[in-house]
Amino acid sequence: MALTIGVIRETAEREKRVAIDPPVAKRLLDAGLSVVVERGAGIASGHPDTSWPDVEWADSARDVAARCDVLACVQRPESEVLDAMRQGALLVGSLAPYRDLDRLGTAVENGVSMIAMELIPRISRAQSMDVLSSQATIAGYQAVLIAADRSPRMFPMLTTAAGTLRPARAVVIGAGVAGLQAIATARRLGCQVEAYDIRAAAREQVESLGAKMIDTGVDAETEGGYARDLTDEEKARQAEALSDRLSAADVVISTAAVPGRPAPKIIDSDMVEKMKPGSVLVDIAAETGGNCELTRPGECFATGGGVIVDGPLALPSRCPLHASEMYAKNVFNLLQTMVRDGELVVDREDEVVRGALLAHAGRIVHERFLEKKDEG
Ligand code: NAI
Repeated sequence: MALTIGVIRETAEREKRVAIDPPVAKRLLDAGLSVVVERGAGIASGHPDTSWPDVEWADSARDVAARCDVLACVQRPESEVLDAMRQGALLVGSLAPYRDLDRLGTAVENGVSMIAMELIPRISRAQSMDVLSSQATIAGYQAVLIAADRSPRMFPMLTTAAGTLRPARAVVIGAGVAGLQAIATARRLGCQVEAYDIRAAAREQVESLGAKMIDTGVDAETEGGYARDLTDEEKARQAEALSDRLSAADVVISTAAVPGRPAPKIIDSDMVEKMKPGSVLVDIAAETGGNCELTRPGECFATGGGVIVDGPLALPSRCPLHASEMYAKNVFNLLQTMVRDGELVVDREDEVVRGALLAHAGRIVHERFLEKKDEG
């Protein structure tokens, strides 16, 4: 019997994506696999049931889980769905391994293997499977659109019969994947852009997009290319240099993150107080607590000084068609390495599989999370 890939309707709040979209379902069918889809799984991302190729249908996520060999999801499914999965089946998705791992416990004990897509190593071969990058690209783009919508100003420089409007000044904090996309989008809308990151290596990318790098004299890049937490002295130096730039900005987009940790607090209330009335701060790190001390995740409000502070959540779900398209391709590219001659092979010698394999054969196997469990 052909290996069956399952697709369920996402149920998390605000979630509109689907893990496999109809074009990827078609590619799976063409490769000789079976696909079983929960009715309505694609509706929120713009794919009604009529737009899918010749897949099998199921009436519930539990039904999909019980029938498939590989369950593809965007976010962690409900426990009752996980518990319906078969022994030896594979769960693939953004499983949030840093969050209450114990809740995956029963499925782990039942022998479900789990690949956490956010743990896929960031090596060249795995770039096409990198959901952090594909989804951050959308988040960065959306952040600027939100800022444009909230701002009382236009962004481009305009010379008109009614006078000249000067371009909006944008500051982007955190020049990773989301930040770089925010820079590019802000530039396309006509902003003058400055950016800041604690990794000195980001300078070249920032400048190649036509933005200016803000220099605070702090470099905190680790060997893996990620940022580390800053010391108190470094934080103070950073705050002083940044405050000056923020007070001149019309738009601030903050995207700074440290993997597996709450977002670093970079913008304090004094810095916001010095910002101009009508300036907009879109803090997309809100998902992990926010880069600004005042951010209220999921809310937008104006401070007493007239600064608009927005902490949007679930940004990729504002663009669910493209977010799902990219996510589905990431999953497909991973499955291509794991399905060999129509069989599912969990090859722990493979660097990509090993790096992202959270659970296998009845236990948590990922080194980073084994330690966590031992500590707990
Ligand atoms: P992320 O989402 O973890 O963090 C966003 C940005 O915030 C990072 O650039 C980080 O340096 C910055 N940051 C953290 N603390 C900060 C602070 N206190 N002040 C200012 N900035 C701060 O990062 P993302 O976007 O996932 O990428 C991180 C790195 O991984 C980058 O070097 C990126 O180029 C690299 N990467 C490599 C890929 C590959 O396949 N080789 C694919 C994607 C990213």
